Amino acid sequence: MSILSGKNILLGITGGIAAYKTTYLVRHFIKAGAHVKIIMTPASKDFVTPLTLSTLSKNPVLSSFTNEEDDSDIWNNHVDLGLWADVFVIAPATANTMSKMASGNSDNFLLATYLSAKCPVYFAPAMDLDMYKHPSTTASFSKLESFGNIIIPAGSGELASGLVGEGRMAEPEDIVRFIEDDVLSKLPLRNKKILITAGPTYEAIDPVRFIGNHSSGKMGFELASAAANLGAEVILISGPTKEVISNSLVKVIPVTSAEDMYVTAHEYFNSVDVVVCAAAVADYKPKHIATQKIKKKTDTFTIELEKTKDILASLGAIKQQQIIVGFALETNNEIENAKGKLKRKNLDFIVLNSLQDKGAGFGKATNKITIIDADQSLTSFELKSKKDVAQDILNHLLNKL
Ligand code: CTP
Repeated sequence: MSILSGKNILLGITGGIAAYKTTYLVRHFIKAGAHVKIIMTPASKDFVTPLTLSTLSKNPVLSSFTNEEDDSDIWNNHVDLGLWADVFVIAPATANTMSKMASGNSDNFLLATYLSAKCPVYFAPAMDLDMYKHPSTTASFSKLESFGNIIIPAGSGELASGLVGEGRMAEPEDIVRFIEDDVLSKLPLRNKKILITAGPTYEAIDPVRFIGNHSSGKMGFELASAAANLGAEVILISGPTKEVISNSLVKVIPVTSAEDMYVTAHEYFNSVDVVVCAAAVADYKPKHIATQKIKKKTDTFTIELEKTKDILASLGAIKQQQIIVGFALETNNEIENAKGKLKRKNLDFIVLNSLQDKGAGFGKATNKITIIDADQSLTSFELKSKKDVAQDILNHLLNKL
């Protein structure tokens, strides 16, 4: 899955012959799973039609501050559009538009939107070789880069003028790859590997029965997804769950029992930088698993249980450079109990949820957490969706890293 999946991409098209290639660029963005909106300068409409681009992007194409064909629309809001964008791409970027953007000119809709955008802005310049090398063009590049904008280098080849040299707009697929690589390289968890345990475990009684719990796995899956969105490579070891995840950075390893989860976690432990144990691991398992289905012969029936291995504690005991994070679900003496687990399991921090808080715990879409650090300091959070809670936990982790 592309890192651009689900991202809002604003494409600004300016007046150069390479504008015809933006039809392919839009297709590539859509294929990557991005949402695309397009602004055209009036001059660019001589090279490619708004109808083609609105059909491909599945959105109306804007090019002026007002919508002349619809009196009810007073103005096109360049501020909203600028803030909507996660990524702003100007392609092709003419010398004229870049020079205007470098000097803060805002006399067309694209220029005004550029001044409102807070996201990363990429320029794919396209012009004749002498224009590309002209000191005023290179000065625009430097000025735009000093604003934090990114220039996607033009390629060499045959130009519209008939001359051969540097100035061809980068090919659409190369523009997409360039942006993907750049976005990935700037993610804060890039080059970090995180092991996450999630979901319940099932401890077999006989071939058809087990001891389990109501954990949905949602918290662990949200953590995996949020970590991957920050660039981490994730090993997600999950007990039986309905949750699914589709992200090329997340490797899901399904397991069933506490013992399976223990063995798998230890297999990967040496290769990871961070461990987050969000699984609701069974504390006890049947001492003997019947090989045949148990028949109901007696009025009462007793199963002898023995302790499972504590995965989190076992990893805490052998940790080297890894940051280890645990969860504690408590009903009473919450802080005291969580602090005990933090110390006993040798953790860097523990995420406490109390079942006394409404909306927190198993099977819910929300959670309310308090993070307790190794130095015993507490950070409390409001009741939030598990997705937002995952983000809070990862922000806390980022401070540790
Ligand atoms: N955990 C684990 N392996 C186990 C049991 C728990 O990795 N066999 C992890 C959980 O994933 C969680 C943390 O330990 O991150 C706390 O689990 P919890 O069951 O609440 O704590 P326990 O230490 O088992 O204590 P108690 O059941 O007495 O509350």
